[in-house]
Amino acid sequence: MTQRTHRVRPTVGGRIAGLASALLMAGLLLPVSPVSAQGSRIKIGLMLPYTGTFAALGTAITNGFKLAVEENGGKVGGRELEYFTVDDESDPAKAPENANKLIKRDNVDVLVGTVHSGVALAMSKVARDNNTLLIIPNAGADEITGPLCAANVFRTSFSNSQPGIAMGRVMAEQKKKTAVTLTWKYAAGEESVGGFKEAFEAGGGKVVKELFLPFPQVEFQSYLTEIAALKPDVVYVFFAGGGAVKFVKDYAAAGLKNTIQLVGPGFLTDGTLEAQGDAAQGLLTTMHYGEGVSNPKNAAFRAAYAKAYKVDPDVYAVQGYDAAQLLIAGAKAVNGDLTKRAELVKAMETAKIDSPRGAFALTRSHNPIHDIYLRRVEGKENKVIGVAVKNLTDPPRGCKL
Ligand code: BEZ
Repeated sequence: MTQRTHRVRPTVGGRIAGLASALLMAGLLLPVSPVSAQGSRIKIGLMLPYTGTFAALGTAITNGFKLAVEENGGKVGGRELEYFTVDDESDPAKAPENANKLIKRDNVDVLVGTVHSGVALAMSKVARDNNTLLIIPNAGADEITGPLCAANVFRTSFSNSQPGIAMGRVMAEQKKKTAVTLTWKYAAGEESVGGFKEAFEAGGGKVVKELFLPFPQVEFQSYLTEIAALKPDVVYVFFAGGGAVKFVKDYAAAGLKNTIQLVGPGFLTDGTLEAQGDAAQGLLTTMHYGEGVSNPKNAAFRAAYAKAYKVDPDVYAVQGYDAAQLLIAGAKAVNGDLTKRAELVKAMETAKIDSPRGAFALTRSHNPIHDIYLRRVEGKENKVIGVAVKNLTDPPRGCKL
């Protein structure tokens, strides 16, 4: 529910002052002190996909964010929250208008979003131009914590190359010699594949073909035919959400699952196993989370999330939860006064987040440094079978902070 507080400044004009005090006495206006912002609600703009191939990801992030706030007594820095929600449709063309609406029309204090890297790149520009605090709970566009890094922009998820680098190392260690990659042609896909290729080739492998299709297309047949003809040792793909469900099923239906090993970043099998069924069994992925991560925080988080939403959480829920945890850490340090920006940023930069993935800190450019797990699909679970890379950082790549 929206509740607004009207500001009334004391005036020297007798008539105006008289009118104001009459209104105050009548209870029609609320008096406001200079620190009134601390008493009012913090406005959170959730800009996420609620339709399209990433719809389930947007919902999980929203749920995770709200769960962390509820666990903090429904408050952040002692203040209640007011949510403003926009469905960004994973459409970069609509992103500047959507972000501007939240900032200029709704006057949000904090922007939270999004899933799609192209949308996040546009959002981060708007956030930088308006100096609005932005917390990214998924989109991994490398540039955002690289050359485009900013004091007011934070990420609680990953950078796109991180899980790819981890899988490239694992496949090279397993002595795979040749790989084909396939993904949607946009920042996330290109950078994920880029991370895989860099690490796989550094370990002695060779990417023999890089295949792309436009986002969010899911007509995979011609690509599967080409993969079958190329016969690589391994196929690395980046797909997520509805696209990941369809790809994994199509790969198995084409008869490739038992002949050419399919791997990817964990998005390929996260939040999708119910729909993928048998087609996903045994797939190896690399990710900064897995259902079975063994720590007390994860056990408590999984139980609380399942109780609140009647579904099991996935990596997106964790990232949304951690976005709220990061904001809570910052807001606590400034006692809810988000206008103390320098102290707020400092507290967020130095926060150690007690995440269900395992505790993590941020790089200088505001990206998590975390373990990347190796997972294997067993039933409805991405079972953690090892740590592919310990404490993987995000190369600073031109960040001038
Ligand atoms: C991205 O666009 O950055 C992205 C989307 C879904 C899952 C992971 C990354």
